[in-house]
Amino acid sequence: MSAHLHRRHVVILGLATLFAAPAFAQEIPARPFIEVPVAHPISKTKQPMKVGVVGAGNIGGTIGELFAKAGHTVVFSDRDEANAKAQAARVPGTRAVSGMEAIAASDVIVLGIPFGAWPAVAKQYGAALKGKIVIDPTNPNPARDGELAKTALTKPGTGEMVAEFLPGVRIIRAFNTSSYANFAREAGRPAPRMGIPVAASDAATLNIGVRLVNEIGFDAVPVPGGLHGSAKFELRGPANGLHTAAELKTIMGL
Ligand SMILES: NC(=O)c1ccc[n+]([C@@H]2O[C@H](COP(=O)([O-])OP(=O)(O)OC[C@H]3O[C@@H](n4cnc5c(N)ncnc54)[C@H](OP(=O)(O)O)[C@@H]3O)[C@@H](O)[C@H]2O)c1
Repeated sequence: MSAHLHRRHVVILGLATLFAAPAFAQEIPARPFIEVPVAHPISKTKQPMKVGVVGAGNIGGTIGELFAKAGHTVVFSDRDEANAKAQAARVPGTRAVSGMEAIAASDVIVLGIPFGAWPAVAKQYGAALKGKIVIDPTNPNPARDGELAKTALTKPGTGEMVAEFLPGVRIIRAFNTSSYANFAREAGRPAPRMGIPVAASDAATLNIGVRLVNEIGFDAVPVPGGLHGSAKFELRGPANGLHTAAELKTIMGL
């Protein structure tokens, strides 16, 4: 880890231990959403896409904000309309819509939901999501997500488990390896950038995931093996936290 990244890591980890249970110290599950300002400018994309956020909390709000700053068209939705409206009010150029509208209007949908909400979300939105690209940042946390998380933690990775809930959906697994606060602070920083491991259902979807992660100011590290590859960077593994892309490749043996 670079000295610069390391200093930030210590600060953020200190923050994380204030807010999070030790086993999940890389996340900051603050409710309600506590804004962490995006620290660096984000360059505009030459290929804007329509991005919908379903679950507009810490991670959905932050990743949605980064996509908006990169010039993508972003709408926020949440089961609690007030959450979506609050995100839209703070991120210029975005709107709050219903979940179905967010999915219908978007090519890429960020599912910023608790892991335990997958069955309900699949039931509600599974048909609408068919053929779309979903970004999955979710991590199983038994304290929050109950039995589903306990089952998930018996498996090497969660990517394939989530895919079972969403047949026919192109899934990108990314943004699960650090806290939303780190993503807000590190996005767009001068080199060395923060590395983000990315796995996906298929090669074409992986290419899109890599492009999107790079566009919002990180160095994407594509992990081969389809969604099975996500086992290399689950929250409880060594790829977790703040690393450069080169460090991540070493850690994950790529
Ligand atoms: N926080 C982090 O730093 C971080 C980092 C990496 C990955 N993650 C992962 O990202 C996921 C979200 O975490 P978070 O911290 O962003 O949680 P959060 O702040 O609580 O946001 C989750 C949002 O999803 C909404 N939601 C719940 N069920 C829903 C449903 N069925 N349909 C639509 N929206 C629904 C929640 O609404 P209500 O307020 O009504 O419950 C809430 O607004 C988790 O799986 C977590 O492991 C988090």
